[in-house]
Amino acid sequence: MQILQDKKIVLGISGGIAAYKIPELVRRLKDQGADVRVVMTEGAKAFITPLTLQAVSGNGVADSLLDTQAELAMGHIELAKWADLIIIAPATADIIARITAGLANDLLTTLCLATDAPIALAPAMNQQMWHAIATQANVATLNERGYHLWGPGSGEQACGDIGLGRMLEVSELVNLSSDFFADKYLQGQHWVITAGPTREAIDPVRYISNHSSGKMGYAIAHAALRAGADVTLISGPVAISAPIGSKLISVISAKEMHHQALIYAKKCTTFVACAAVADYRVANIAEQKIKKTNDVMQLELVKNHDIVADVASLADKPFIIGFAAETENVEHYARGKLMRKNLDLIAANDVAKSGQGFNSDNNALTLFSAIDKTEIALANKQIIAQKLVSLINQHYLAKQS
Ligand code: PMT
Repeated sequence: MQILQDKKIVLGISGGIAAYKIPELVRRLKDQGADVRVVMTEGAKAFITPLTLQAVSGNGVADSLLDTQAELAMGHIELAKWADLIIIAPATADIIARITAGLANDLLTTLCLATDAPIALAPAMNQQMWHAIATQANVATLNERGYHLWGPGSGEQACGDIGLGRMLEVSELVNLSSDFFADKYLQGQHWVITAGPTREAIDPVRYISNHSSGKMGYAIAHAALRAGADVTLISGPVAISAPIGSKLISVISAKEMHHQALIYAKKCTTFVACAAVADYRVANIAEQKIKKTNDVMQLELVKNHDIVADVASLADKPFIIGFAAETENVEHYARGKLMRKNLDLIAANDVAKSGQGFNSDNNALTLFSAIDKTEIALANKQIIAQKLVSLINQHYLAKQS
């Protein structure tokens, strides 16, 4: 069953240019099984018509507090009680300010006061307006009151400015809606996840690295967030965005990753080492670009600290999951790493197989504990991550009891 099946969502639209994206949002939410009722402010109607939203939602659009016909159909108090979730997208600086002040001067603000449903705001405004002290104070107040802030994102804005203030993409809002209703079985847990490659400098312009894209680690971070965990993502250089809601610590080298991992591992319940950490670094990094004078060049390499093994030797160590990227004898090498690094679990992937592992959207894993073995069949990394996170939690709970 889809996670949004039969979920009742009130979608409030305020008057910003991003309102033109909302019919698509309504359609995508409905595709996921949600029942969507649209409420518009007067400003919103300057950007998009109620008729369009009525057509895509399949329900009448409410836009007035004083409309006797609309009140007869589903009155504003009834609508406030009906909602499982209210999403306001786009949420302009004006509607954010009015909600913060507790005004009830139109239907949408009245609903916000009259509901006990959770409210998510997808801010959309000029970057200067977003950074304005008044807006930031309002946002901080709403945060404290338990409102959910979905965004804003950063990028080019309708006015030509570049910066924070863009409404999140429709796909991101749909994902956040579905994450919102997902089972929060990791509530109260704090996960630290290492992801991506590390880069070991040779000289100011060259480095040693590997093909890790960060996709697997980031998918685990997303799955853990979705299940309600606090997530810290310690990531090497990658070209993808950290999941919304995670705390991103960006690093370059294995040494930096080691330093950050040991700080955050002390504060977490679960540590997942998904990063492809360079085993060796260059002994003497050249200060200037190395010139092509010799036909053969030799680099002296020294071993990096083993991050996950050092986390496992902490006095008050968290529950620890390592990864094993192997091209042969997968089970043998993975079990060896499980024991040698003193891990609770190890997720092995065969990175010699095409269509999975490094830099692919898909993966297949075998999860080993000291006593058992579970296969997670080839699938998209988001799906793999959700299954892995659930399995990790089962082992974690078994260890606690
Ligand atoms: O990032 P993607 O493109 O999505 O690819 C995903 C992946 C293939 C990188 C991922 O699934 C994976 O296998 N990550 C671990 C890669 C790796 O470095 O494996 P390893 O067998 O060399 O290391 C074993 C374990 O020790 C790993 O948990 C690793 O993070 C950890 N390690 C290794 C060396 C070191 N100095 N410190 C460590 O913590």
